[in-house]
Amino acid sequence: MHGYQGKKAFITGGSSGIGKAVARLLTEAGADVVIGARRAELLDQTLDELRPRQRGRVLERVVLDVGDRASVANAAPQVLRQLGGLDLLINNAGIAHPGYVETMDDEVFDAMMRVNYFGTVYTTRAFLPQLVGQRSGHICNVSSVLGFLGIFGYTAYAASKFAVCGFSDCLRQELLPHGVGLSVVFPPDTNTPQLQEENKIKPPETRAIAGNVRMMEPAEVAQAMLAGIARGSYHIVPGWGGKLTYAAQRYAPQLVRFVIDRELKRSQRPRS
Ligand SMILES: NC(=O)c1ccc[n+]([C@@H]2O[C@H](COP(=O)([O-])OP(=O)(O)OC[C@H]3O[C@@H](n4cnc5c(N)ncnc54)[C@H](OP(=O)(O)O)[C@@H]3O)[C@@H](O)[C@H]2O)c1
Repeated sequence: MHGYQGKKAFITGGSSGIGKAVARLLTEAGADVVIGARRAELLDQTLDELRPRQRGRVLERVVLDVGDRASVANAAPQVLRQLGGLDLLINNAGIAHPGYVETMDDEVFDAMMRVNYFGTVYTTRAFLPQLVGQRSGHICNVSSVLGFLGIFGYTAYAASKFAVCGFSDCLRQELLPHGVGLSVVFPPDTNTPQLQEENKIKPPETRAIAGNVRMMEPAEVAQAMLAGIARGSYHIVPGWGGKLTYAAQRYAPQLVRFVIDRELKRSQRPRS
């Protein structure tokens, strides 16, 4: 992975799954890296795993809850001190909870927006003065394929990821005059602890509709993300399956609805 040596990167949700894979690639590429999440033990375990691969000066962690504005405000100066500045902010921390709209707790809807959407907003705004002040740097927001295509069972999660996309579309243009770049990433199903937890509670209809998409590995998503950022791409859709879905949803949304509705009907057919 070229172009990241000596860069100062902060990755939220860097202790697991996609964020951890990004931290690994950046660490190996010689970047200075701080990872952030809520569970200190998992952060420390990740640092222990990454230390032997460290090529940069800094490899540290910060405990924060991105869905809590005060926690983010406390963590930001610490991250800037640890890194001695900031070149790359990766807003990756997120949670997912599929379920039927009528039976999911209200708290699930609140939590998705608090962590996935407001977590992105709070963290971005906490680091903006630094990036705008230095007139350089890049922000990368992690959305999802479910941030441009909604399917059965993901009312709470997809809404929060569509919100990340809307926020990013506006922010990209606001940042242009300040010389700060922005990317938004739309990963498909990726083999992480989050997906394993989702699979335990997914409605069967969701499983039937989403089951045809090839699952990616976190390292593949991380590679696509960092390559896209290095190219200066705004929309980053990892994998051919994701790219095809993105193009189909953009240029032939009726066809996409036809296909997913057919899968839904098939999943509901009485079994003999
Ligand atoms: N896996 C997929 O199929 C998939 C597909 C599309 C998009 N995504 C998105 O990709 C991102 C990473 O997901 P993943 O699958 O890698 O999940 P993961 O393995 O569960 O990792 C999530 C990371 O976020 C942290 N986190 C969760 N809530 C947080 C909070 N409130 N404050 C700070 N950190 C928090 C977790 O640590 P703590 O729990 O210790 O805080 C962990 O480090 C998410 O935004 C997710 O929505 C995933």
